[in-house]
Amino acid sequence: MAVSSRGLALALVLSFSSLCYLAAPSPAATTSDPDGFLQCLSGSVPSGLIYTQGASNFTDVLASSVRNPRVFTGDTARPLCVVTATDASHVQAAVRCGRARGVRLRVRSGGHDYEGLSYRSLQRGEVFAVVDLTRLRAIVVSAGGGGAWPAAPTAWVESGATLGELYYTVAGNNSGLAFPAGICPTIGVGGHLSGGGIGMLMRRFGLAADNVLDAKLVTADGDLVDRAAMGEDLFWAIRGGGGGNFGIVVSWKVGLVRVPPTVTALNVMRTLDQGAIDVVNRWQEVGPTLPSDITMRVIIQGQQATFQTLYLGRCGDLVPTLGTFFPELGMTAADCLEMTWLQSVGFFHTWNPNAPVESLLNRGTSLSTFTKNKSDYVRRAIAKDDWKSIFPWFAMSGAGMIILEPHGGFIGTVPPSATPYPHRSGVLYNIQYIAFWPAGSDGSAATSWISNFYDFMGQFVTNNPREAYVNYRDLDIGENTVVNDVSTLDGGKVWGERYFAGNFRRLAAVKGAVDPTDFFRNEQSIPPLLQGNNRWGKRLG
Ligand SMILES: Cc1cc2nc3c(=O)[nH]c(=O)nc-3n(C[C@H](O)[C@H](O)[C@H](O)COP(=O)(O)OP(=O)(O)OC[C@H]3O[C@@H](n4cnc5c(N)ncnc54)[C@H](O)[C@@H]3O)c2cc1C
Ligand SMILES: *[C@@H]1O[C@H](CO)[C@@H](O)[C@H](O)[C@H]1NC(C)=O
Ligand SMILES: *[C@@H]1O[C@H](CO)[C@@H](O)[C@H](O)[C@H]1NC(C)=O
Ligand SMILES: *[C@@H]1O[C@H](CO)[C@@H](O)[C@H](O)[C@H]1NC(C)=O
Repeated sequence: MAVSSRGLALALVLSFSSLCYLAAPSPAATTSDPDGFLQCLSGSVPSGLIYTQGASNFTDVLASSVRNPRVFTGDTARPLCVVTATDASHVQAAVRCGRARGVRLRVRSGGHDYEGLSYRSLQRGEVFAVVDLTRLRAIVVSAGGGGAWPAAPTAWVESGATLGELYYTVAGNNSGLAFPAGICPTIGVGGHLSGGGIGMLMRRFGLAADNVLDAKLVTADGDLVDRAAMGEDLFWAIRGGGGGNFGIVVSWKVGLVRVPPTVTALNVMRTLDQGAIDVVNRWQEVGPTLPSDITMRVIIQGQQATFQTLYLGRCGDLVPTLGTFFPELGMTAADCLEMTWLQSVGFFHTWNPNAPVESLLNRGTSLSTFTKNKSDYVRRAIAKDDWKSIFPWFAMSGAGMIILEPHGGFIGTVPPSATPYPHRSGVLYNIQYIAFWPAGSDGSAATSWISNFYDFMGQFVTNNPREAYVNYRDLDIGENTVVNDVSTLDGGKVWGERYFAGNFRRLAAVKGAVDPTDFFRNEQSIPPLLQGNNRWGKRLG
């Protein structure tokens, strides 16, 4: 299969205009004592790990893992300092000193938050510090029990590791092992697992968060707790309830999964002239019902659709299977690329089947492209005539692309309340909308395109709530309202029920139990449900 240069260009597209956000003026906590905070920190954290605004490389360190330059160029509040923790005790110290001195924290693992909430505040004048976990990235794989009944292999991975580092470490010396998580290798484990984690293995093995077995978390009191000590409610909440809410997860114990030593990867492209509309229309039924060892997502850009597929097996078996389930696609053995699962990760990221697996270790960022993304879920297939009205949007000025990610399979069998991620049974696929433009250029065509297109699509997707995925964070859907220094439930419900549906209230109850003063707060953090003093809580409780 030829690798299209368009594919490469797509893959290089990363990360729009701060004009979209009007920061609500909100006074900084009157009790904030930045100097006292720094002095407190210096008692527990080596000075070389603390970058204050005056440090010569403060901006470099702050920018080091920024993925979305759109939110980095704006005049949003910058942190007082960046603490590059190398030990859980540094995280604990930052929390304790922050609590004592009225300095809030933003925690950053991979820095991929779509709205930059891990390193910026939209509250002008807010005094906060960033706890950066980039240097906390050890990965320890344990092969399993051995003997006749080897226990399933597991790994402890620190939050600052990237998905690429995890994949490489798990599979690099054992092509039979894998971990089900996102496509982009530079994503941080910390934020990704906190929000769910969808990817090419989820129809077979679930979300990344579905495979978390234990975790070590620093609480709002600065204690370091594991699953047994945090209790099952908090452990439930951190596996999909979104990052930055309940504490700082330092490390995760994950269950690894077994894959065949050779898998098949392919990108099949169909233009409008080649029947793209018919094939996409049919895919809506096929994609979510294929055997769970086949994941076929669809990328639509320009007037063409690419069916990006991973099969956990050999080409010889895939061809007849797709011939039976999806003859309309017309894939042949010539489309197949056989490789290890680890190589397939590099292929789906770069669209280059020969990408060296070592490239998965590259943490480098590019600040060359601005992007704005949004998300939806589809539970009822969109009619073919409606696809005919959708495709012309990709020929408009400012047009970006969409990615359709099939659900069904294992992920659909998990009850919607088993984890905070509620988009389970009945979901056919989610849609990710992506608008992009070169850094520094006028992004108005692209931003108008995505917002108009998203409005247009409202008629075809889920409503009440119009579901959205927390890891594709979108501040357009709502921001917290803060009253008496605590985020309100009514404000949080607006965006929170879209990410979490019926699980929002339970998340708020957990927040109320573990962080009642709302220390871990950002523009879209879960508000604490405080029994007794909130109208909404009383009504439902
Ligand atoms: C290029 C790109 C590709 C992507 N592809 C996928 C994909 O295929 N599948 C998918 O599901 N998602 C995908 N995402 C979204 C990604 O999963 C989320 O942005 C995720 O939250 C990023 O995690 P992070 O650690 O890199 O981000 P960060 O910006 O560091 O953190 C994200 C949020 O989590 C909080 N947080 C970070 N670390 C911790 C911690 N240790 N404890 C508690 N809270 C924490 C932050 O404060 C912030 O609120 C993609 C994002 C990008 C930019
Ligand atoms: C939007 O999604 C694309 C594709 O996953 C990604 O490259 C880009 O960084 C995302 N945008 C933001 C703002 O993170
Ligand atoms: C910051 O600058 C100091 C002094 O120039 C240097 O020693 C250190 O390595 C730099 N740190 C980073 C993360 O760039
Ligand atoms: C395989 O293991 C060796 C020895 O532990 C290590 O040096 C190497 O980096 C590993 N390779 C991969 C691809 O993980």
